[in-house]
Amino acid sequence: MLEDYRNEPFTDFSLEPHQIAFQAALTQVESELGRVYGPIIGGKSIATDHQTVSINPAETSQIVGIIGQANSALAEEAIQTAASVFESWKRVPASVRSRYLYKAAAILRRRMHEFSAWMVYEAGKSWVEADVDTAEAIDFLAFYAREMDRLAERQPLVRIPGEDNELVYIPLGVGVVIPPWNFPLAILVGMTTAAIVTGNTVVLKPASPTPVIAAKFMELLQEAGLPSGVVNFLPGSGSEVGDYLVDHPLTRFISFTGSREVGLRINERAAKANPGQIWMKRVVAEMGGKDTIIVDNDCDLDLAAESITLSAFGFCGQKCSACSRAIIHEDVYDVMLTKLIDRTKKLIIGQPTEASTYIGPVIDDKAYGRILEYIELGRQEGRLIIGGNKGPSNGYFIEPTIIADVLPTARLAQEEIFGPVLAVIKASSFDEALTFANNTVFGLTGAVISRSRERLEQAREQFHVGNLYFNRKCTGALVGVHPFGGFNMSGTDSKAGGRDYLQLFMQAKVVSERL
Ligand code: NAD
Ligand code: ALA
Repeated sequence: MLEDYRNEPFTDFSLEPHQIAFQAALTQVESELGRVYGPIIGGKSIATDHQTVSINPAETSQIVGIIGQANSALAEEAIQTAASVFESWKRVPASVRSRYLYKAAAILRRRMHEFSAWMVYEAGKSWVEADVDTAEAIDFLAFYAREMDRLAERQPLVRIPGEDNELVYIPLGVGVVIPPWNFPLAILVGMTTAAIVTGNTVVLKPASPTPVIAAKFMELLQEAGLPSGVVNFLPGSGSEVGDYLVDHPLTRFISFTGSREVGLRINERAAKANPGQIWMKRVVAEMGGKDTIIVDNDCDLDLAAESITLSAFGFCGQKCSACSRAIIHEDVYDVMLTKLIDRTKKLIIGQPTEASTYIGPVIDDKAYGRILEYIELGRQEGRLIIGGNKGPSNGYFIEPTIIADVLPTARLAQEEIFGPVLAVIKASSFDEALTFANNTVFGLTGAVISRSRERLEQAREQFHVGNLYFNRKCTGALVGVHPFGGFNMSGTDSKAGGRDYLQLFMQAKVVSERL
C-alpha cells in the first residue's frame, strides 16, 4: 500500500554522519569529473562533431563534463523518434506510467547526496541549496505519480437517465521540455516527468550551463527502466536547436521555464502554424520575477531582516523567487538598513564544496559581467551600503550587495538581475508600499512582514503575485504545499507542484453512449 504523499525531509548537516556522507559523495563525484556526455535519441547515445565543456563556476579551470552538441538534423531525429514512440507510450496504462516515477523517486532517494554533489560542482550550489534541489526533485516525482493515479480514476460527471457518460484525460503528443539551469535537477525533473506521466513523449533540451546534471537524470530514468525514446535528450544551442524544436509541426506542446525574453520568443514562434501542423501548440511558460518583500512599521524587525537576507542571497539571488526589492516603511527604514548590513556581513563567501559556504559563485561569465554592470548602475541609482566587489578570482564570485535609496521606477527596481543584489526602496505608508510592490511587469512571489491583521488582509487582496507569503521568506515553495507560478510576465499562470498542473499536458475526451 502506497504511503500518503509527504515532502522529502532536508538533510540536517549539523549532524556529523550527514557531513561525512556528503563529503564522501563530493569525493566520488570529483573522481568522475571530465567525462563525455551527448545526445540520447531512442535510447541510443550519439557521438557529435561539436562539443562544449561544462565548467565549475567556483573553479573555472575545472571541467565538470564534455558535452556533445546536437544540431538541427539531430533535433529532427529526436522529434521523429518521440512521435513514433508516442504511439506505444500513450497506450501504456496510467498506473504503469506512474510506477516509473515511483521507482525513479526511490532511486533518487538512495542516490540523493550524489546528485546534490553534482550540483555543487556544476551549478555552484551550497550543500544546503543542492540538498533542497534534490529533495524537491524527489517531491515532484512522488507528487505527480500520485496525481496521475488520481486523474486516471473515473472523473465525476452529472448523471442523466438513459446515457453512460465518461470523461477521460488523454495525452497531447510530443512535448519539447526546456528547463533553466538554476534548479538544474528539481525543475528539469518536474517538467519532464509531468509531461511523460500524462502519456506524452518528450524531447528534453537541457540548459547550457548544467547539462551534466541533466545527463545524470537520463541515467536515472534508464535505471528506472523507462522505455527508450519516451525522453530524448538533446543538449544544444538554445537559438539553433531550441527554435527548430519549437517550430516543428509535430511538436504539440512546449513546456518552458526560463527568462521572460526567451519565453516570449517561444510563445510567439509557437503561435505560428507551420506547414503540416494540425493543431495549435500549447505553451506552458514559467518566467522571471522581480520579487518584493514589504516591511511594515509595526513588524518584528529581526524576522524582516532574516526573511530578506535569506530570500535575497540564498543561492546568490539566482532564484526566480528571490527577493530583489525590499520596500520598507519610512518609520523603520534606517534601523532596517543597519540590521540588513549586520546579517549580510555574516554570510560566508567561498567554495561550495566547503560545508560553511553560504555565498558561492554566480553561474557563468555572462551572468558575472551582467551582475557587475547592475552594481555599477546601482551606485548611480542609489547608495551602496554593503558589498559591490568581486570575490575570489578563481571563480565567478560577487559579494552580496545592497543598494539603498532606490526609486521604485529605477532600472534596478524594475529589471530582473538574477544575482546577489538587493534594491531597497523607502515607502511613506503601507498603501504606498503596496503600490510600489505592484509596479513591475512581473508577478511571481512577494512577502509582507507585519503584525497588523488589517494590512495583511489588504495585501492578501491587493498584492498581485502568484505566491504571496506573510511573515516569512519569499523563496522555498514546497511541492504540494505551495503550488508555484506567477502572474503577468512571470508566465502562463500555471502552478508547478499543484493539483491543476498535470492537466496542462492532457486533453479531456468525453464519450457518451445511449443505453
Ligand atoms: P534562459 O531563458 O536564458 O534559458 C532557459 C532555457 O531556454 C535554457 O534551456 C536555454 O538553453 C533555452 N533557450 C534559449 N534560447 C532558446 C530559444 N530560442 N528557443 C528555445 N529555447 C531556448 O533562462 P535561464 O538563464 O536558464 O534561467 C533563468 C531565468 O529563469 C530567470 O529569468 C528566472 O526567473 C527564470 N526562472 C523561472 C522560474 C519560474 O518558475 N517562474 C523558475 C526558475 C527560473
Ligand atoms: N520554487 C522555488 C522557490 O520557491 C523557485 O524558491
